[in-house]
Amino acid sequence: MSYNVAVVGATGNVGREMLSILEERQFPIKEVHALASRRSNGVEVSFGDATLKCKDLATFDFSGVDFCLMSAGGAVSKEWSPKIAAKGCVVIDNSSAWRYDQDVPLVVPEVNADAVARYAKKNIIANPNCQTMQMLVALKPLHDRATITRVVVATYQSVSGAGKDAMDELWSQTKGKYVPGQEVEPKKFPKEIAFNCIPYCGTFMEDGYTSEEWKMVAETKKILDPKIKVTATCVRVPVFVGHSEAVNVEFERSITAARARDILRDAPGVLVVDKREDEGYVTPIECVGEYATFVSRIRKDPTVEHGLTMWIVSDNLRKGAALNAVQIAEELVGRRLLKTAA
Ligand SMILES: NC(=O)c1ccc[n+]([C@@H]2O[C@H](COP(=O)([O-])OP(=O)(O)OC[C@H]3O[C@@H](n4cnc5c(N)ncnc54)[C@H](OP(=O)(O)O)[C@@H]3O)[C@@H](O)[C@H]2O)c1
Repeated sequence: MSYNVAVVGATGNVGREMLSILEERQFPIKEVHALASRRSNGVEVSFGDATLKCKDLATFDFSGVDFCLMSAGGAVSKEWSPKIAAKGCVVIDNSSAWRYDQDVPLVVPEVNADAVARYAKKNIIANPNCQTMQMLVALKPLHDRATITRVVVATYQSVSGAGKDAMDELWSQTKGKYVPGQEVEPKKFPKEIAFNCIPYCGTFMEDGYTSEEWKMVAETKKILDPKIKVTATCVRVPVFVGHSEAVNVEFERSITAARARDILRDAPGVLVVDKREDEGYVTPIECVGEYATFVSRIRKDPTVEHGLTMWIVSDNLRKGAALNAVQIAEELVGRRLLKTAA
């Protein structure tokens, strides 16, 4: 059995990774379509050794398409996902447009794969936010063992999480520091990102948290356990790809750092790199192009009864977005849940 697949946002950071990952994992494809806005009509993108010409989402006919991997932002998804889903095509969406809809499963296959079975109500499945995704891949096996009660997390988010224009801004601002007259004013970010850190991702909410911080709270509750309390500080850092997180976790029951290390070594999607020596941990540069979520610096938090602190790193364009979307499609195929559109 093979499937017709459309990738919406195929010229973007995440869309390009989706095409790479579909090819790398040999997803059973009959035909693949690269879609973007009208601006990109005819723009070429790679799919393995082949080149695809982008088509305009607005004029594309989704009849007979089985999967739509959607990565073109919330507004596009709100408008287009229901229309695409009505054609019998399953939409796997990367934006925040559907994540909090009760009729839309929010899925990280390593954490709550069974939730895919509920996709048919709207024919839409949501992909979580990148920084929540990697955190939950690492926390789920520990939660199963010792029950997490509270998480305090600070993120160090790469600029690729804000799209291709954000990567260009870091690049040109960095160059502008060395070339007189070529300084670049902040546009995509509110303050300079080159050689800086910005403690503001998303938009401010009434309570002083930002929308990216709120997403970590709401999505952890929906995917893992509504009883877990989360407080987050999301920070944008001058890294091109790879999100990092310093995570402090409180548990109901006792769990040692050594036991956590063992559990995580056996956990799906996790790689433990944790040696107490100069190179015994993972940095974002090292996770680029990888599928895994890396966990390092696991240690006891002596300030609470049952606590651990750790460092979690992952490629935000892969596990944080494109890989997870492809894994969801694989779950639907593997569980024979798809009613083919063709
Ligand atoms: N980057 C991450 O780490 C990450 C992680 C999780 C989720 N996401 C989410 O994934 C989505 C895309 O992120 P990205 O980083 O790939 O952004 P990006 O690099 O800025 O790319 C945006 C893509 O959306 C397309 N697009 C924009 N307006 C469109 C329209 N009206 N019709 C059809 N296509 C349109 C663009 O096509 P044109 O080139 O034609 O404009 C482009 O292909 C966002 O919702 C983002 O929040 C991103």
